Amino acid sequence: MSTRILVVYYSATGNTAALAESLAAGARETGADVRVRTVPETVPAEAIATNPRWQAWVGSGPHHDLATLDDLVWADGLAVGSPTRFGGPAAQLKSYLDSTGGLWAQGKLADKVATSFTTASTQHGGLESTLLAINNVFYHWGAIVVPLGYAHPHLKESGNPYGGSFVSRKSAAPDELAVGALHLQGRRLATITTHVATGLKQAE
Ligand SMILES: Cc1cc2nc3c(=O)[nH]c(=O)nc-3n(C[C@H](O)[C@H](O)[C@H](O)COP(=O)(O)O)c2cc1C
Repeated sequence: MSTRILVVYYSATGNTAALAESLAAGARETGADVRVRTVPETVPAEAIATNPRWQAWVGSGPHHDLATLDDLVWADGLAVGSPTRFGGPAAQLKSYLDSTGGLWAQGKLADKVATSFTTASTQHGGLESTLLAINNVFYHWGAIVVPLGYAHPHLKESGNPYGGSFVSRKSAAPDELAVGALHLQGRRLATITTHVATGLKQAE
């Protein structure tokens, strides 16, 4: 059976969604079975309407199916992404993560292989704090956290060992450097997940 990878993201203006697609493509290249899912928008329509880019993104959706708890149970490994919001993940994504208490209590999230990704508008605007905050959830689940590191020469250029990231200056869409890093992150997640899932099945 193929390695099962879940990519879950929230995006208000499309940047995190583009990173999610690239990570998913990298994972698929290894032969993994990949699901890309998003989470519900919770901000009132009048707030979204104050931002034309947000309104346009919402108006052009839905972009992916909504993530369910069954998606998490299904996955051997997962990648979780959010735009940086005041130095941390968006509430919309956190709300999904906060719905996993029942699965956590049953131990169903332990030994999942997990990695995180983000985008912000400034280099020092909280990329790492967002990635580390997402990873904190993984630690509580008992998941196996996969950082990006500098495992490939490209990653020395893109330069965020904590996870795939992109600095969206003036609302720019993810560039080739970032997209390439996310692609590598997907490959790395799927490859390590295959090793872990195979080992766990043998130990059963
Ligand atoms: C409410 C709000 C808070 C934000 N907070 C930060 C922040 O703390 N640091 C930063 O650099 N960018 C911040 N941004 C900018 C977004 O992280 C950035 O535009 C990101 O690329 C958007 O990704 P998306 O297109 O997936 O929504 C914020 C944007 C919004 C709307």
